Amino acid sequence: MKKINRKKFLLSALTGTAALPLLFKKGLAQNVMTLSSAGSGPLVIATWDNRKATDAAMQQIMNGKSALDAVEAGARVPEGDPEDTSVGYGGYPDRDGNVTLDACIMDHQGNAGSVTFMQHIRHPVSVARLVMEKTPHVMLSGEGALRFALENGFKKENLLTEKAKRAWQEWMKENKYTPKVSKNNHDTIGILAIDKKGNISGACTTSGRAFKMHGRVGDSPIIGAGMYVDNEAGGACATGLGEHVLKTLGSFLIVELMRYGLTPQEACKEAIRRILDKIPGAHNDQVGYLAINKNGEHGAYSIKPTFPYALYQNGENKVMESDFAMR
Ligand code: GLY
Repeated sequence: MKKINRKKFLLSALTGTAALPLLFKKGLAQNVMTLSSAGSGPLVIATWDNRKATDAAMQQIMNGKSALDAVEAGARVPEGDPEDTSVGYGGYPDRDGNVTLDACIMDHQGNAGSVTFMQHIRHPVSVARLVMEKTPHVMLSGEGALRFALENGFKKENLLTEKAKRAWQEWMKENKYTPKVSKNNHDTIGILAIDKKGNISGACTTSGRAFKMHGRVGDSPIIGAGMYVDNEAGGACATGLGEHVLKTLGSFLIVELMRYGLTPQEACKEAIRRILDKIPGAHNDQVGYLAINKNGEHGAYSIKPTFPYALYQNGENKVMESDFAMR
């Protein structure tokens, strides 16, 4: 009965969209089967060559912890790494020299937490998790997020390393405070995991676009933009120019397309196509998406080369290169 209702819903919801021919090509019956036949081993996937993060996440899963514990542990790796200039401690500051951080997390029950524009806290993903678990809210921002973190035992730190400060000072000489941003100056980590129970969770964390305007918030902490999970359909996350992801709500789009039967790869490709179709000039920029479904299949697609990603599955932690649109 549930399958018939879903089929009707899919048909009515998708009529007129670009995805419809694909659905017919694949066959709806097969799609409904796919959605209801969860059964993958553990998996962790992360944007860029974040193999240390996928390793930390998989250790959690192997120790019997949840996908939620896994993605938090994974995201904390680049957050704590001063050499990673796009995430957490050591992240490049905004044009005023402030390191401002965005992060979100989502579990298999649809619970979500997020912090935006937060300063002085090394691990925003863990604050986002506490927002999810300890407050009636989804998102805390700026001073409020900082206060909440301090009240919950997080330490206030200077996150601007000497390396990041020098880069900012160099940027100031040339750009004279103009928020002109290179397309390749950040590499947010988005991370998705499936645990031993087959549950999916995801997280995303970043210091955002280097030398951005003070107060700028990107896609990473926005549920459905930088990351989205629906335990029934799959999970998706994004990296790259957050403004493009925000305008198309890419991670939510990908998960919905998977719900309607697209493979993770097809769904990622469609979300990139949406950006290229709707946003003039986007072909010059970079956005990369990752997605997983309940069967442990994954997809990766970007606007242009190169977009490597880390995949830990079947006992192997490897870096792979995504397919891309602009050739
Ligand atoms: N994708 C990260 C950002 O644009 O902030």
